[in-house]
Amino acid sequence: MKIKQRLYQFKAEGRAILAANFYNFETLSGILQAAHELNEPVMLQLSESSIRYLGLHVATSLARAGLEQYEVEGWLHLDHGSSPEMAEACLKAGFDSVMIDGSEKPFGENIRITRKVVQMAALYGANVEAELGFIPKLGQESDNDGFTSPQQAFDFISATGIDALAVAIGTAHGFYKEEPKLDLERLSSIAAITSIPLVLHGGSGIPDKMLREAIKRGITKVNLATDSKNAFMKELKNVLYNTDEIDLRKTFPRATDAVKNLIINKMQLVSMTQLEF
Ligand code: 13P
Repeated sequence: MKIKQRLYQFKAEGRAILAANFYNFETLSGILQAAHELNEPVMLQLSESSIRYLGLHVATSLARAGLEQYEVEGWLHLDHGSSPEMAEACLKAGFDSVMIDGSEKPFGENIRITRKVVQMAALYGANVEAELGFIPKLGQESDNDGFTSPQQAFDFISATGIDALAVAIGTAHGFYKEEPKLDLERLSSIAAITSIPLVLHGGSGIPDKMLREAIKRGITKVNLATDSKNAFMKELKNVLYNTDEIDLRKTFPRATDAVKNLIINKMQLVSMTQLEF
């Protein structure tokens, strides 16, 4: 099934799909083992820096081969694409879905580049996510004035024809210094006047109940990156600290397991329907 249809299905069921970033074979494997075990679909996300690290061809092939090997229903998604050119390169490489992030550009310019990607993606039958409002990236301070306006969200969706919208409601990428405060009323207002799936960026470190409430109020895709990196590196450091083993095939699996366990928990949490929670 195409990711577009799957997102609408999840939206109708009042649950969310987990969109997990991967960085190497080990993190990919942890994510796919979790999805396989739960028999849940997953979106595999690559940021531009991960694409630079792995190489576009290797990254794409790794994800495709992984989905097949672990028998998981999944889609490959470009996370925070910074230009139509980057989105096009990923579409050509076979991505199912791309994000064009013009959120830090003026409203008109965000519309212009997003429309361009929507037109391009239509040729590939691919899904397009865009962002409106300010969701702090790593190293950026949060700013409540940057929250998504419901009316602007409506106008932006009508003007661009996107498939999914990332909203700024108080989440941020990376570690939170203190418990995040989500503007859930705003989320409800955005959900009330829009009909496409809404995306929550900055999924790491959000308390379970808060995440469920966001899903209840209209979030259909939850992005998770920092928690996976952290789980992987913490466990890897722990293993390396306690052994002189140089066979990486014996040391990495414990870190992979840490990612797997984290993803199992998050996936169970976001993919439950409201009745199951
Ligand atoms: P975190 O790194 O905070 O989990 O955010 C992930 C994300 O939103 C990727 O776009």
